[in-house]
Amino acid sequence: MRTFRIAPSILSANFACLGQEVTDVIAAGADIIHFDVMDNHYVPNLTIGPLVCEAIRPLTQAPIDVHLMVKPVDSLVPMFAKAGANLITFHPEGSEHVDRTLALIRDCGCKAGLVFNPATPLHHLDHVMDKLDMILIMSVNPGFGGQSFIPQALNKLREARRRIDAYREATGRDIWLEVDGGVKVDNIAEIAAAGADTFVAGSAIYGADDYAATIAAMRAELAK
Ligand code: DX5
Ligand code: ZN
Repeated sequence: MRTFRIAPSILSANFACLGQEVTDVIAAGADIIHFDVMDNHYVPNLTIGPLVCEAIRPLTQAPIDVHLMVKPVDSLVPMFAKAGANLITFHPEGSEHVDRTLALIRDCGCKAGLVFNPATPLHHLDHVMDKLDMILIMSVNPGFGGQSFIPQALNKLREARRRIDAYREATGRDIWLEVDGGVKVDNIAEIAAAGADTFVAGSAIYGADDYAATIAAMRAELAK
């Protein structure tokens, strides 16, 4: 039986009552809080930083998964670690030295992950698997919630799954495979079949009237 994790993106939450939105989604059965950081430089949008991470940290025991859509990356890593992040992921395009940034994240006590945009090839994984705890495949171009799932991401998920399985066979160590963008109740089963085990969903959960029913519907699809 595979382990699946649901990670609501607070990008689609009501920011006027963010603390309640975090508490509600965890009470509704979510496993992880996905925290989207945008800098209006690497991506054309501006969101939230370490102060907001620090503010929500006491509200939940669930891991906070910080997705850095920023350039440069390194100066923010210690700040988010101090603010209570558990996982920090970044895009290879955002860092001059990917290996160094991955090591920095772990040195700060967090799990580390690399994020792949729809057009970013997976060869960035070739020499850093030992430093990774998670691989994040973007199924939209980063910058906004509420976009449609790009079907080509399924092929990339399959390829990432092959690499992770081969690595686990060789080393005994697992790496999580997360997907981000356009994940809904009606496509989550197909995305899981392509190899994802961790599912970011923003608008599908926060746009629904009943968070618990939506997360339960996603889990029911994953159990099929
Ligand atoms: C997009 C963000 C996503 C976004 C997903 O750049 O990284 O995490 O919030 O939102 P949905 O699930 O609505 O596509
Ligand atoms: Zn994200």
